[in-house]
Amino acid sequence: MDVPPPNPDFADPPDTPFDISLRPPAFGEFAGQPKVRERIELLVAAATQRGDALEHILLSGPPGLGKTTLAYIIANAMGVNIKSTSGPVIEKAGDLAGLLTTLERGDVLFIDEIHRLQATIEEYLYPAMEDYKLDIIIDGGPNARSVRLNLPRFTLIGATTRSGMLSAPLRSRFGMDARLDYYSAEELQGIVLRSAGLLGLPCDSGGALEIARRSRGTPRIANNHLRWVRDFAQVRAQGRVTREVADAALAMRDIDSDGFDEMDKRVIEALIYKFSGSPVGIQSLAVAVGEEAGTLEEVHEPYLIMQGYVMRTPQGRVALPKAYAKLGLKPPRGSQAEMEL
Ligand SMILES: Nc1ncnc2c1ncn2[C@@H]1O[C@H](COP(=O)(O)OP(=O)(O)O)[C@@H](O)[C@H]1O
Ligand SMILES: [Mg+2]
Repeated sequence: MDVPPPNPDFADPPDTPFDISLRPPAFGEFAGQPKVRERIELLVAAATQRGDALEHILLSGPPGLGKTTLAYIIANAMGVNIKSTSGPVIEKAGDLAGLLTTLERGDVLFIDEIHRLQATIEEYLYPAMEDYKLDIIIDGGPNARSVRLNLPRFTLIGATTRSGMLSAPLRSRFGMDARLDYYSAEELQGIVLRSAGLLGLPCDSGGALEIARRSRGTPRIANNHLRWVRDFAQVRAQGRVTREVADAALAMRDIDSDGFDEMDKRVIEALIYKFSGSPVGIQSLAVAVGEEAGTLEEVHEPYLIMQGYVMRTPQGRVALPKAYAKLGLKPPRGSQAEMEL
């Protein structure tokens, strides 16, 4: 197997203009995630009624599930400005001070990939989040002195793909910890139909469902597939998307019929071929597929587990019969997978 080097700095891909144009602007157009949505809508309503700033919210979950979208929807619903930055971009305390001091009362500061904030910057954030105060050191050497700035009551919305990497003190300062989950095919179908409508693209429900089923439970992937299917349909199918058209378009790009991506395939191939179906510890699996263990665990594995390809056991990860079937194999005799059958 050809394995690229691990990528400890796993990050969401940046938002393209296409992503932004399809982003729902309000809760009413945000599909799925009913629990998270209901809780956040309640917080927004309560804060609005009291005329108060919203409490700090942490949004976590794999890439492309709607964290950035939700942050913008929240700011819209509160009728406040949103300033957007990301963990690795804030290099010095001064960068953070620069951002915080431009906020007005109630404004949202959105920090994407917040698990990648430097520890020293995090320390500055604590009093800012808790007491709306910022102690900064100005001048260096013998002239150094600390100045306390009073900040307006603001709302920090943090987003992370790696919630396990967040320090406990930072996590505890959020009033709400909202975890986004993969979407069902039906939810994604609705998202595809909405996007097709915005693009003025005729797409029937069968076409939308075909795209949805092959999108790994992820709205961003569904929209990207739709973009490709639109081009295909324009050139080959009079601009209309049906199930057959979507299938032909996605097959042409080698998009897996179960929505698997490269890492999904690598994980089940490693479990079945390299480790012959025995339980595998996360560290060994990570080395085998060339990914950092934490990223594998929080970003890639949840989809495989939810879909019933992989199971976590006390001895380690094992491939389930569905994973064998995907490779056209039968579970070996006496393996955990055979017992699951
Ligand atoms: N619940 C949703 N309903 C409709 N579209 C969504 C939803 N969640 C995400 N999207 C779409 O998917 C794209 C990716 O979402 P984004 O918020 O950027 O994900 P994340 O920040 O979690 O990586 C957005 O451009 C938006 O169009
Ligand atoms: Mg994002």
